[in-house]
Amino acid sequence: MSLYKFAIRPILLQFSPERIHHFTFTCFRLFQNIGLIRSLVSAQFSLKDASLERELFGLKFPNPVGLAAGLDKDAEAFDFLGNMGFGFIEIGTLTPKAQPGNPKPRLFRFVNDKALLNRMGFNNHGVEDAVKRLRKKKSNIIIGGNIGKNKNTPNEQATDDYIKCFDALYPYVDYFVVNVSSPNTPNLRELQGKKPLQKLLNEIMDLNRSKEKTKPVLLKIAPDVNHSQLDDIIEIVQTTKIDGIVATNTTISRRGLSYPKSKVEQVGDGGLSGQPLREKSTQVIRYIHEKSAGKIPIIGVGGILSKEDALEKLEAGASLIQIYTGFIYEGPALVKAINKELIRKSQKV
Ligand code: FNR
Repeated sequence: MSLYKFAIRPILLQFSPERIHHFTFTCFRLFQNIGLIRSLVSAQFSLKDASLERELFGLKFPNPVGLAAGLDKDAEAFDFLGNMGFGFIEIGTLTPKAQPGNPKPRLFRFVNDKALLNRMGFNNHGVEDAVKRLRKKKSNIIIGGNIGKNKNTPNEQATDDYIKCFDALYPYVDYFVVNVSSPNTPNLRELQGKKPLQKLLNEIMDLNRSKEKTKPVLLKIAPDVNHSQLDDIIEIVQTTKIDGIVATNTTISRRGLSYPKSKVEQVGDGGLSGQPLREKSTQVIRYIHEKSAGKIPIIGVGGILSKEDALEKLEAGASLIQIYTGFIYEGPALVKAINKELIRKSQKV
């Protein structure tokens, strides 16, 4: 059993999830300025091996395991998180203006099911604030910039928000993720509809092509979409010529939770992540992979809590994977376990 699971996690679980998040991030910010701690953490968790390297949309990833969006929303600890063995870190979702998000409490644990429910609502300090820290990046960790719109921006003007974030982050991130799939910003997921999505992605790609060098643009989708909606999404990805899909965001379904209905209802609205999401997200990945004949690069995310879960996503057609809830429950040892397993598998071939 890892030190994290044996000694650290039991203490962390005593406190409210959001307080723990702020506490750990304060530690991360401190640690990332101390070279010795960074080296020790890196020695413990980072694995380097040629078999782990992946080349995708023009980027060379040292390993395929990334940190999903939402943990380092404000780009505060990407250098330190990079020392924990991740091959890439996705910051955001960032919006043009700072916004507080939904009232607290808005993050809940379902420990027995290794799940989280959140209705954070894109709380962030605004894209320019994140840029200040991205400018001071010390490591060469690959950074994805996940972008969204402010809550008060009507959907008809949403494109302007995404464009502002794209422009501000362009010099500092390696790839972009257009997030239209959070369940916690009212009406945001309507942007997944055929017409608005086409318009949004076309405008972002026009801007992208006007730069000296285009950067990879991916679309992050919800797991709560049917096959016909997925067919539309696949078509739009191909016609707008974006680079790939991040599948998936959290689900509005409550299936897979073992808690009494009354307890689940009491917690209220939000997106569910972790174990109950695993299968649903894998199905979406498999469908896109098969329907597009493997032509659309996919970052697979949703319910990866073990090395077996990671392999399932890769076998379903993901080229890279990301974790969030698994990192909360299993700690950085999960990243190492997945990479170790991938090295072992490559040696067997
Ligand atoms: C998220 N996620 C998320 N995704 C995103 O695109 N932008 C965001 O701001 C956030 N914020 C966020 C906050 C919290 C508290 C959680 C738990 C999740 C979704 C996340 O990136 C991922 O897609 C899902 O959580 C599914 O993966 P896991 O958690 O099952 O590994």
